[in-house]
Amino acid sequence: MKGVVLAGGLGTRLFPLTKITNKHLLPIYDKPMIFYPIQTLVDGGIDDILIVTGGNNAGDFLKLLGNGKEFGLRHINYTYQEGEGGIAAALSLAEFFADNGPICVILGDNIFQLGIADSAKAFEQQREGARILLKDVEDPQRFGVPVFENGKIVRIEEKPGAPKSKYAVVGVYFYDRTVFGIIKTLKPSARGELEISDVNNYYIQSGKMTYDVMKGWWTDAGTFESLLRANNLVANSRL
Ligand code: G1P
Repeated sequence: MKGVVLAGGLGTRLFPLTKITNKHLLPIYDKPMIFYPIQTLVDGGIDDILIVTGGNNAGDFLKLLGNGKEFGLRHINYTYQEGEGGIAAALSLAEFFADNGPICVILGDNIFQLGIADSAKAFEQQREGARILLKDVEDPQRFGVPVFENGKIVRIEEKPGAPKSKYAVVGVYFYDRTVFGIIKTLKPSARGELEISDVNNYYIQSGKMTYDVMKGWWTDAGTFESLLRANNLVANSRL
């Protein structure tokens, strides 16, 4: 299975930190943010990796990561997103790279304590559809939130005012080859983006979505609060 790291966007929630650099190049303790999702993929057995980035600082990713020697890789693929459009729009740029195979998508600002290898193996056995990871959090309203009926996920609500469960959909998604066709059917949301939650809802409606509840801590790092939290979690895990 191939891996896609989504590292575009303007990072407006972190202005002025992101005025002159890309969010995913900011430090998390002793490494740039993007090192963590790449390592998560590599530790999960995924070593054919595409970085999707954009903006004025795209060249810095090449300077920083090169061919991926620090991760034991011999090559990293890069693609450039012109403008903004949301997570699903960024993912659509990976269609050529995916080459009709399954993919693991990881958001460039998601930091995990433990690995995703078990979910990756389970998805390989699943063969079709999609698989998401859930984590119980204190502030689900900041995330995509699954709605359960009779123990089954019936839909995901993106940043709901009144969350219907205590879970966040974390930023790792496993998709079969049909994901790119699904993205082409999407319409922009109220915030003007092609939402990854709409992709996931499509799989849920087709009865082809599975999920795992994650062990270990997890955080995003796209706001000042979560950036600080990510730094502290990583720093404390090294003590
Ligand atoms: C995105 C997704 C959301 C998901 C989150 C995980 O939110 O839209 O469903 O729970 O990533 O980090 P964003 O951080 O882009 O607002």
